[in-house]
Amino acid sequence: MDGDRVNEYATKFLKQESEIQSLSAELEGLKNPQRSSPSCRLDELREENSRLQYRLNILKRSLQDEPPHCGTAMMNINQRLQEIFGRAIRASCPELDSPPLSVTPNQQAKFGDYQCNSAMAMAQLLKAKGLKVNPREIAEKIIQNIPENELIQKTEIAGPGFINIHLKRSFVSRLLSNLLVNGVQPPPLASKKRVVVDFSSPNIAKEMHVGHLRSTIIGESMCRLFEFLGYDVLRLNHVGDWGTQFGMLIAHLQDKFPNYLAVSPPIGDLQAFYKESKKRFDEEDDFKKRAYQCVVRLQSKEPDFIKAWNLICDVSRKEFQKVYDCLDVHIIERGESFYQDLMTEVVKEFDDKGLTEMDEGRKIVFAPGQPIPLTVVKSDGGYTYDTSDLAALRQRIFDEKADIIIYVTDSGQGPHFQLVFAAAKMIGWYDPQVTRVEHAGFGVVLGEDKKKFKTRSGDTVRLMDLLDEGLKRSMDKLREKERDKVLTPEELTKAQRSVAFGCIKYADLSHNRINDYVFSFDKMLDDRGNTAAYLLYALTRIRSIARLANVDEATLRKAAQSVEVLLDHDKEWKLGKCILRFPEILQKILDDLLLHPLCDYLYELATTFTEFYDSCYCVEKDRHTGNEPPPRRTSHVIPQWCVPA
Ligand code: ARG
Repeated sequence: MDGDRVNEYATKFLKQESEIQSLSAELEGLKNPQRSSPSCRLDELREENSRLQYRLNILKRSLQDEPPHCGTAMMNINQRLQEIFGRAIRASCPELDSPPLSVTPNQQAKFGDYQCNSAMAMAQLLKAKGLKVNPREIAEKIIQNIPENELIQKTEIAGPGFINIHLKRSFVSRLLSNLLVNGVQPPPLASKKRVVVDFSSPNIAKEMHVGHLRSTIIGESMCRLFEFLGYDVLRLNHVGDWGTQFGMLIAHLQDKFPNYLAVSPPIGDLQAFYKESKKRFDEEDDFKKRAYQCVVRLQSKEPDFIKAWNLICDVSRKEFQKVYDCLDVHIIERGESFYQDLMTEVVKEFDDKGLTEMDEGRKIVFAPGQPIPLTVVKSDGGYTYDTSDLAALRQRIFDEKADIIIYVTDSGQGPHFQLVFAAAKMIGWYDPQVTRVEHAGFGVVLGEDKKKFKTRSGDTVRLMDLLDEGLKRSMDKLREKERDKVLTPEELTKAQRSVAFGCIKYADLSHNRINDYVFSFDKMLDDRGNTAAYLLYALTRIRSIARLANVDEATLRKAAQSVEVLLDHDKEWKLGKCILRFPEILQKILDDLLLHPLCDYLYELATTFTEFYDSCYCVEKDRHTGNEPPPRRTSHVIPQWCVPA
């Protein structure tokens, strides 16, 4: 709209401007100054054009203030600054092919809101080319080349050549209003991509351990991230449900519960059942033979054997589901058995392309750049973990048509995935420029003694026991804080679960997943520091302000359309800018697939909110009447920040 008006005014302005010029020329050339007509017309035109010029300037300014169109999505301020500075840097230094671009948010307000640190690195690069230029001079040049834009108020050079960037308050205020009106929206998606996340993936008949807990928590969060961004996500539980151990399990099942085809056997403790069958497998020759026969009959899909196998899988499934229910995890089971037939095809494809070799009875594949080969067929003719992952990858690329495939397992499996990815690229299944295939590895879970996480007796910790312990600890904490005195029993149980499971998940997510991480209930339940307990506390506080101020989301949305978000106070300004950094954080975690920056950001947001709340008085209840007095900072503070989630 405003753009059209600018054009219209500008055309008129230019037309009149040229008329003014020709009239002035005519006037100059006139011998007889008494003839007044051109001069009157000239005065008229001059006056009208000065008015037009004024209106044009206003319109141009408001156009500059208008953020570029990105629908209802939140704008990534850092990205926008990178675009602007990228252009300025290229224009000021044509000698460098790809000059370094660095724009980062500033923690200390006195240095501006963002900072561009490219000048120093550029000076270094120029020096290497034999050109000696002072970084401050480069910074000056960059500033001269900054194109017209909607968000920068001013820039200044500091120290050896830092450029401090100050944002326009009106711009930040408008973005905040947009956010209130539209809600938190993901950035616009160029195209809807299909993502497969392979996570959790415990092994049937074995206990789910803390490594699987990490995979479950990290994988679930990655899925939520992709879903929030609008991707089409397939959550896959690649359970270990196929393999030789099923032979002995089935043989033992036949002995223990001969009636298993008619009545479901009451296997309460699959772990114990597994141990018993393993003992027999190691000690009884006949049993061992029968176990091997069972594997063959299972793999040839004899109905009775499939039934036995299903019964065993069901017992495990129920156990896994208990953990998923506690942690609110949603996942589709598609275990190794799903790929059984595809494995035969995969081996054939490698054979046909001449990529396999025999090595002491095994069939192996060497992939470029890999120190060891993949084993695709064992000497007994069986397939391996390598074969099943090759088949799974091929199925995900060609049948699922995935654009992004992520495997969330401990870092120890890194070499295995590198082998599989290298073999898949070699055979031409995918081009890494087009399809993103990544192993998102994580470190081991340590006890507070910094040793591998174990029970006191040295056994692996059962996940359900761990979650139960979390519930107990969280209830102790709630009681210590006398929450049991104010909450109903139902509310107390709800709070207990939110605190326990929220803290366990957050503790995992807030650490860089690559590192080993120390599991400590005391730390994760501490309500000071970067913990879920602290964030839950901050959220509760915000909600209680909203309750006290009697505002809900609809009121806020409506108010935001007419009331300007004022950012006069330092703490308001700081909080406003912090809120708007969300799209920048999203982009970062999407690029690196590391989730801890999101936790760091949430923690920063919560502490910035607390600072704001402590210095900018929101609402206060009258201690005697329980009523709220009129808010002090009517126009902005109260309703607008107190978004009930
Ligand atoms: N079941 C495996 C384990 O417990 C993890 C499977 C991970 N996914 C995969 N596609 N290999 O170690």
